[in-house]
Amino acid sequence: MDVVYNIIVVLHFVGLAMLLGAFLLQLTSKEKTVTRWMFDGAMTQLLTGLIMVGMLSGGALGDAAKDEVDNTKIAIKLVIVIVIAILAAVGRRKQPPQTALWLIIGLLTLANVVIAVFV
Ligand code: HEM
Repeated sequence: MDVVYNIIVVLHFVGLAMLLGAFLLQLTSKEKTVTRWMFDGAMTQLLTGLIMVGMLSGGALGDAAKDEVDNTKIAIKLVIVIVIAILAAVGRRKQPPQTALWLIIGLLTLANVVIAVFV
């Protein structure tokens, strides 16, 4: 089961790369906008995150791993990723440039990385 969990962790990093990559790629663009990678990245984070929490809480990795689940941290990350997904869905329906939405999505993604690492 550890292998399955580790594959999901890798996919969690792929989702992060999709989100952050879509943001960073446009740092020097004149017309910054929301791309489909942002929405797909947010969905990847949501899905992989929920699977990991399910596996940890369900005891798939042993009883010790159950205690490692920090529900407050997960709840904050969950709310942030839902906001990112909504903003990305809204931004995709509008014409570029979407500078404000692009910036907020990038900053919220970075906020989730900081929360994942520091909290
Ligand atoms: C934009 C959204 C997200 C980003 C950027 C993000 C980022 C990260 C990063 C960088 C890590 C590795 C750091 C560490 O383990 O200390 C991590 C781990 C984790 N994330 Fe996320 N995350 C996001 C959303 C979510 C969501 C929505 C959930 C749950 C519903 C979640 C659940 C987890 C779990 C359980 C781990 C632990 C993996 C492990 O080390 O075994 N994440 N996340």
